[in-house]
Amino acid sequence: MTAQLNPCGDVAVLVPAAGAGVRLGPGRPKALRLLAGEPLLVHAVRRLAEAPSVHSIVVAAPVAEVAAVGELLAPIAPVTVVPGGAERQASVAAALAAVPAGPGIVLVHDAARALTPPALVESVAAAVRAGHDAVIPVLPVVDTIKEVDADEKVLGTVDRAALRAVQTPQGFRRAVLAAAHAAAADALTDDAGLVEKLGVPVHCVPGSEHALKITRPFDLALAEHLLATGR
Ligand code: CTP
Ligand code: MG
Repeated sequence: MTAQLNPCGDVAVLVPAAGAGVRLGPGRPKALRLLAGEPLLVHAVRRLAEAPSVHSIVVAAPVAEVAAVGELLAPIAPVTVVPGGAERQASVAAALAAVPAGPGIVLVHDAARALTPPALVESVAAAVRAGHDAVIPVLPVVDTIKEVDADEKVLGTVDRAALRAVQTPQGFRRAVLAAAHAAAADALTDDAGLVEKLGVPVHCVPGSEHALKITRPFDLALAEHLLATGR
């Protein structure tokens, strides 16, 4: 059954899903790879649609898959599908251009973080609503981190206490994200990085282990296990 999005919601979610998934190994574009029998993108969009603040969802799909992705997602939720770009940043920009009038908050969420709980969508949106122009979900770094040179020689140990691993969805006041993309010069892997370049403060909220990014085969196996065990 197709989920209803909230016509009174104040949040649009952009879902860059146009990547190849090179690190996952040969196969279809990553967003269309199966996790427990369903494409990663279906898992991701289903969870976004369950978040009560979400008014609209715009997916940036691989160029050759735009029609197929539209058909795939139609039974899940009402989504707009646009062709993605060569870099993630271009895919986000394409999706941003298709956001309808209305929502004042825009979240950017990787399709590859397929198991992200709706509660994380809500907590990021709530922090933007509370007055932060840019919000990122983060986790503490658990490993000791070394800086190395090109020969793998250790240059030093970084203070882990001051480091955070960054997830999505990242949330922005709409005008701030639009300005950041309009001003973008270099391709970055994260939208908060573009906002930082504008000098806008970025606020951290607690992330979720379930928002892990499925990047390598091990991540896919972990996600299968989490789904199978209901965790
Ligand atoms: N993405 C995108 N357009 C691109 C590249 C990436 O929309 N040109 C999306 C991916 O589909 C993914 C998210 O950005 O949902 C995060 O990227 P990543 O995990 O790196 O996915 P891929 O680029 O597909 O993987 P890889 O780098 O291993 O090829
Ligand atoms: Mg990539």
